Amino acid sequence: MILHSLFLYCALASGGLARAVTVYSQVPMGVTPTTSASSSTYTGAAAYDPTVLNAPALPNPLPPTQFGIQLSTSASDVTALSIQLSGAFLGFSIEMSVVDQVCDFSSLLQVPFLNLMALLSERAGRVNIRVGGNTQETATLVQSLPDMKMVEKQETAGNNPTETPALLYTPDILYLLSNISALVNTKWYLGVPLNDTSNLRLAIAEYGERILGDNLLGLQVGNEPDLYARHGHRASTYGPYDYFGEFGQVVAAMQADPNISVSNNLIAPNVATGDWTPEDVWNTGFIEAYTNSIHTLTVEHYPDDNCAAIYSGFGPPKDPQTEFPNYLTHAAGKSIVAPYLNSSAIALAAGKPFVMFETNTASCGGFPGISDSLGAALWAIDYGLQMAASNFSHALLHVGGQDVYYNPFTPPPTNQSSYHQWTIGPIFYSVLAVSETLGSTNTSRVIDLYANGNNDYTPGYAIYENGALARLALLNYMTDPSGANDYNATVSFSGGVAGQPSAVPAQVYVKYLLAPSVGEKFNITWAGQTFGGQFSSDGRLQGSQHVETVPCDQTANTCTVTVPAPGFALVFMSNSALGESTPTSTITFATTATAAGQRGTQVAGVDPSVLATSNGHGGQDFGLGSTSKGRSSAGDRAAGVYPSGAVLVAVIAGVATILRAFAHQEL
Ligand SMILES: *[C@@H]1O[C@H](CO)[C@@H](O)[C@H](O)[C@H]1NC(C)=O
Ligand SMILES: *[C@@H]1O[C@H](CO)[C@@H](O)[C@H](O)[C@H]1NC(C)=O
Ligand SMILES: *[C@@H]1O[C@H](CO)[C@@H](O)[C@H](O)[C@H]1NC(C)=O
Ligand SMILES: *[C@@H]1O[C@H](CO)[C@@H](O)[C@H](O)[C@H]1NC(C)=O
Ligand SMILES: *[C@@H]1O[C@H](CO)[C@@H](O)[C@H](O)[C@H]1NC(C)=O
Ligand SMILES: *[C@@H]1O[C@H](CO)[C@@H](O)[C@H](O)[C@H]1NC(C)=O
Ligand SMILES: *[C@@H]1O[C@H](CO)[C@@H](O)[C@H](O)[C@H]1NC(C)=O
Ligand SMILES: *[C@@H]1O[C@H](CO)[C@@H](O)[C@H](O)[C@H]1NC(C)=O
Ligand SMILES: *[C@@H]1O[C@H](CO)[C@@H](O)[C@H](O)[C@H]1NC(C)=O
Repeated sequence: MILHSLFLYCALASGGLARAVTVYSQVPMGVTPTTSASSSTYTGAAAYDPTVLNAPALPNPLPPTQFGIQLSTSASDVTALSIQLSGAFLGFSIEMSVVDQVCDFSSLLQVPFLNLMALLSERAGRVNIRVGGNTQETATLVQSLPDMKMVEKQETAGNNPTETPALLYTPDILYLLSNISALVNTKWYLGVPLNDTSNLRLAIAEYGERILGDNLLGLQVGNEPDLYARHGHRASTYGPYDYFGEFGQVVAAMQADPNISVSNNLIAPNVATGDWTPEDVWNTGFIEAYTNSIHTLTVEHYPDDNCAAIYSGFGPPKDPQTEFPNYLTHAAGKSIVAPYLNSSAIALAAGKPFVMFETNTASCGGFPGISDSLGAALWAIDYGLQMAASNFSHALLHVGGQDVYYNPFTPPPTNQSSYHQWTIGPIFYSVLAVSETLGSTNTSRVIDLYANGNNDYTPGYAIYENGALARLALLNYMTDPSGANDYNATVSFSGGVAGQPSAVPAQVYVKYLLAPSVGEKFNITWAGQTFGGQFSSDGRLQGSQHVETVPCDQTANTCTVTVPAPGFALVFMSNSALGESTPTSTITFATTATAAGQRGTQVAGVDPSVLATSNGHGGQDFGLGSTSKGRSSAGDRAAGVYPSGAVLVAVIAGVATILRAFAHQEL
């Protein structure tokens, strides 16, 4: 779990430093980092890489720009709809990493993080976040660390180059997560260290259960065990039956531990589908043997890697411009999901959720210009909805440090935090859009429409909620500023009284995700609102919201929706579907403590009672103060444009310092 990715970015103050401490996911270990970065001359941190790619050429043949979509208004008339899904379908996976230098955690806070999570939980009801990864395997809980740290990487003996360095963490980390959950409805996955099953360290389960309670969703056992042998963490003969045995040891140890009362919350097998398939694990009888202990069945996967840009032994670096078109088709998401269709059906039959536990555009940090583009945002929406349509229960997008390209959000380097805000990546817009696509009722069922003759560039999905057609999700992967490849989808309706067309709605409502090109990094809007450019977000949407109203043709029984090239259109079939996805009151947290150098204030937060009682103060800032040295409250307040209507600005005035990591807790 790269905890520094969330709030502890201190080791990542510079690109060079960041590269030295990063633990990448799904990277063969033991390979030698090269010094050359990429063909680009940019040498700063990846998260701020300025590479903008050209939009790929238009496809040949061009897809038709006018086509019909026939929809039943009732779910009961549709076969092969997905299972019922939560709007918290896309969540985040945050690697617990290792920081090998003294960090001034006190200068870091996550008010923008709280704002971002609030945007999602208002739409989806909650946010699911996993804290774990390769470094969870060696993590050991200690009661305190020097220099007020919550997490520290220990030096390795050095005799084994592939050994993952040990990680020490304190219970403060878990209190931090718990404090976040008290403010915004975030639920957490953690991981049990599995580097040494003869000496299991179950403190993460004991303390996690005790501190997080119901906010702990589950505990991962073994991160990518199919890569253990390849990475030298186990003997070369290590196979699925060995994992089966080790999982059993964890189950037995947890059951024998009087400090663990929940023993049915385990997450497995987390295979990377690198050296084993999920079926290799199912074939051991894994699910049947451990059904009472398993909460969720999981896989982890990235569709590509950029390892050659960082490590030797991977051949020539891949050219992002050449790779870009691979992400900009409907086939891209479908091809990632296809190997898991059998497993999603097996999970469903076993009564277990099936989750993509860690994914993003490419491992080894993603690709410059791809992972941080509108193209990636369209890809993540399509891939996410493809997983939804394929009976995954959710999917977690990986968040790295300053040295990856694919971050949904990136805090500024610590020594810039007094004058820079956060950078929101295009993929965050995907998470927002998918949360609105599925809504907050937990009843959304998704189907891939094979739209426009199953054309690769113009995919679409229908969403049924509470049994009725609620929304339509339409993508256009092409870029054509002339408008000639904007397309019109003419939606017609059937259902209702047998044999009779049902009444078409008088109008539908459309929110657009727009940018001038699939290569665009920052000029991106969702329903007219944006997070702005590099270093310019406090986690709130800026600008006023704009929802298109599209009148329908009630004589022809059709509604025609235009989808720009490029763009994503979310079509709401009713006022109530729109209302559910459009919170009228937005809880926001003011950025009061972004300045560096405020030792003693670990986290500026809101007293939960403020949130509970402050409803109704529409559009008003009240009691705003600042904990920041040398910053006025007015300055702190400047960022963020509040959407029209009733906006709840629950202000954190620095009075409520919820987490005091300096006071070490005794359990
Ligand atoms: C921030 O810290 C990095 C790493 O210590 C250093 O290279 C850089 O010059 C610093 N930048 C500023 C503006 O202080
Ligand atoms: C799409 O609809 C718009 C608005 O009705 C119209 O101006 C445009 O010509 C249509 N485009 C195509 C390709 O049918
Ligand atoms: C597992 O990790 C712990 C904590 O880092 C370490 O002390 C131990 O030696 C490791 N065991 C093996 C077998 O690598
Ligand atoms: C574990 O159990 C012991 C004895 O019941 C108790 O004193 C201790 O506080 C517990 N620790 C945790 C982390 O629950
Ligand atoms: C699905 O998985 C099961 C269990 O591993 C296996 O027996 C079966 O052959 C698989 N089916 C397909 C179509 O891959
Ligand atoms: C998803 O599950 C439903 C049953 O709830 C089933 O009808 C549908 O075919 C499944 N979809 C896939 C892609 O397996
Ligand atoms: C949706 O599901 C979650 C998790 O089970 C639950 O906590 C929440 O209350 C549900 N929401 C609704 C509206 O039923
Ligand atoms: C931002 O994109 C919009 C189209 O989505 C375009 O009209 C506008 O000119 C762009 N602004 C800048 C500053 O590039
Ligand atoms: C917040 O963290 C503090 C310790 O840092 C802890 O005492 C408190 O119980 C936490 N609050 C919640 C709601 O978890």
